[in-house]
Amino acid sequence: METRVLTVDAVVPDSATIHEAASVLKRGGLVAFPTETVYGLGANALDPAAIELIFQAKGRPATNPIIVHVAESDAAREIVTEWPESAARLAARFWPGPLTFVLPKAASMPDIVTAGGETVAVRAPSHPVAQALLRKVGFPIAAPSANRSTSVSPTEASHVLRSLEGSIGMVLDGGKCPGGIESSVLDLTTTPPTLLRPGLVTSAAIERVIGPIRLAIRQAGVDPLRSPGLLERHYAPDASLEIAHGSGLERVHSLAQAGLRVGWMSQRAHSLEDDAIQDKVVVIFMPNDPEAYATRLYSALHSLDEAHVDRIVVDALPSALDWLAIRDRLNRAATAV
Ligand code: TXA
Ligand code: MG
Repeated sequence: METRVLTVDAVVPDSATIHEAASVLKRGGLVAFPTETVYGLGANALDPAAIELIFQAKGRPATNPIIVHVAESDAAREIVTEWPESAARLAARFWPGPLTFVLPKAASMPDIVTAGGETVAVRAPSHPVAQALLRKVGFPIAAPSANRSTSVSPTEASHVLRSLEGSIGMVLDGGKCPGGIESSVLDLTTTPPTLLRPGLVTSAAIERVIGPIRLAIRQAGVDPLRSPGLLERHYAPDASLEIAHGSGLERVHSLAQAGLRVGWMSQRAHSLEDDAIQDKVVVIFMPNDPEAYATRLYSALHSLDEAHVDRIVVDALPSALDWLAIRDRLNRAATAV
């Protein structure tokens, strides 16, 4: 299949382009589109055959449910059977935006979207292209990240093409995704609510609106399979990745001296003084602020893959709670298969 790439303005999407993308979705095809987090691979959420194409294109296990995207709260309420006060308050504060709710699903949701489960994950993305597309089609759009299963999520159209070219109908190229990592996934069917996946909306920000929540990170002893997205190896680059204790400088040195090509994601400015290893090391400078780090995280991993490094070394990250989502993604990327 030929994958058409249409450029679209990320602030004011051209209506003819949105119309073309909407026609592909209405015919049961797949369209990758930018959101404020990462690129999504969209299909009509009410069309099981279209959803099946998503699983095929991604090589995604049928046990892993897909997030359904809607334009706003009213549309979300049509695909769930309960809309608790907590959902209303969080939506008022964070929607449209990078926060996903897990709620009991309405009968209209095909089993394939929820992997046979009784709940559905739903969010209203804020990206103007995603909003325009949702409003144009008038149905909810199921969209996982637009990458092959377990690999790094795409934050640019070229990343989407690298893994899915030929297996999807269209990519809307709206440039870089501003957020850079996936939405936070919050299960509102438990008391207190459970953060299944940390993301761009921090646990502290959520707690300021609805009070205490539970973190479903492995350390908390919660069954990680409660959200299949908590499967260990995920977000993994081609090269194996390790997180250093403190600065990665020594580790980078010894790997390069052993003849390996090394990618180094470092939060400190370094000069590699040893000429012999300089041409073995690709250094990517990473920000000291968690939001800026998130924006750059996947694009750094994608560029190190493109540079064909053998190993990736990442400087240790701060242990503060606002780094939770970043640590989560890097720990998973580092977990050996
Ligand atoms: O930012 C995002 O959330 C992006 C953009 C495209 O919106 N989407 C995304 O989708 O990251 P995906 O499919 O790659 O990740 C969805 C996560 C997975 O970890 C999945 O297991 C979990 O949400 N999930 C989906 N439905 C669920 C449900 N009903 N119950 C629990 N977890 C669910
Ligand atoms: Mg994903």
